[in-house]
Amino acid sequence: MKRKTRNFYIYVNIGLLGLVPFGLICLARHERTTTPRWAIIQDMDKQPYYKPQRPSTLFADGRAMRPHIPGTLAQQDFIYVNQAQVRAHPHNWAKGHVVLKNKTLYDSVLYGQKLVHGQGQWLTHIPIPVTKRFVERGRTEFNIFCEPCHGYNGRGNGTVNRWDERLRKDGSPDAGTWVPPSDLLGPGVKFLSDGLIFNVISNGVGTMASYKDQIPVVDRWAIVSYVRALEKSQKVVPVSKLPYPIRHSLKSLPAKTMGNGKKK
Ligand code: HEC
Repeated sequence: MKRKTRNFYIYVNIGLLGLVPFGLICLARHERTTTPRWAIIQDMDKQPYYKPQRPSTLFADGRAMRPHIPGTLAQQDFIYVNQAQVRAHPHNWAKGHVVLKNKTLYDSVLYGQKLVHGQGQWLTHIPIPVTKRFVERGRTEFNIFCEPCHGYNGRGNGTVNRWDERLRKDGSPDAGTWVPPSDLLGPGVKFLSDGLIFNVISNGVGTMASYKDQIPVVDRWAIVSYVRALEKSQKVVPVSKLPYPIRHSLKSLPAKTMGNGKKK
């Protein structure tokens, strides 16, 4: 074999070998596996921890699961309120962000319930001052967390629901397990108390999952206020029943917008 051709084959082989890592990477990206991936840098993936209900020699009482320290709160129990809410009801809210002063209020904000003769009852009202900004916050959060299923208008035809309808239409085997989301404007939800809707968001219902880990407490109440706003927006009120200032402002619009063909 001539030297030139031999060199050529060596280069081709090296070149082909050089492709092997890329091939392996492609394979790794496509294959599914149930075993954990290799962790070359361990970070904190693996570390000693206690399983629930196990003993520990570290604490005097021998329990690994620590009881709440009286007078303290876990991080996730903090209630964040905005300054406008604090200003509106200073007696209810402690300064800053966290409400601790009023235990009953605190419980009702956190669980959507109040105690009546030792029994928990769902709150009929949102226990936080409802301001315009609060409802707007609710809209933002609703459009992020609830729209995928319940839709922007709350009727239950969100992005995921439409996707399921498409799968059904195409006769796909992936369709069929989807439970259509409830119509949030129908009687089923209209007659739920505010506290119960809060609880649905916090703990889920039926096939709907819990959103308490994703949505902070006050934002959950803001969503409840927005669901109520959506319900109210469905009411059709004749112009004659509107309060005078609104009727008056409508009259001052150009005739075309009013749609009655009359000119002023
Ligand atoms: C992944 C889809 C999905 C998302 C996201 C979702 N829901 Fe639901 N929701 C459902 C389904 C499905 C039901 C009906 C559950 C059932 O009947 O099994 C439901 C039911 C409800 C109900 C009626 C409960 C009752 O007792 O009748 C309310 C209220 C509600 N959702 C509010 C919300 C709010 C507010 C959000 C946003 C924080 C939200 N949902 C996000 C799927 C979803």
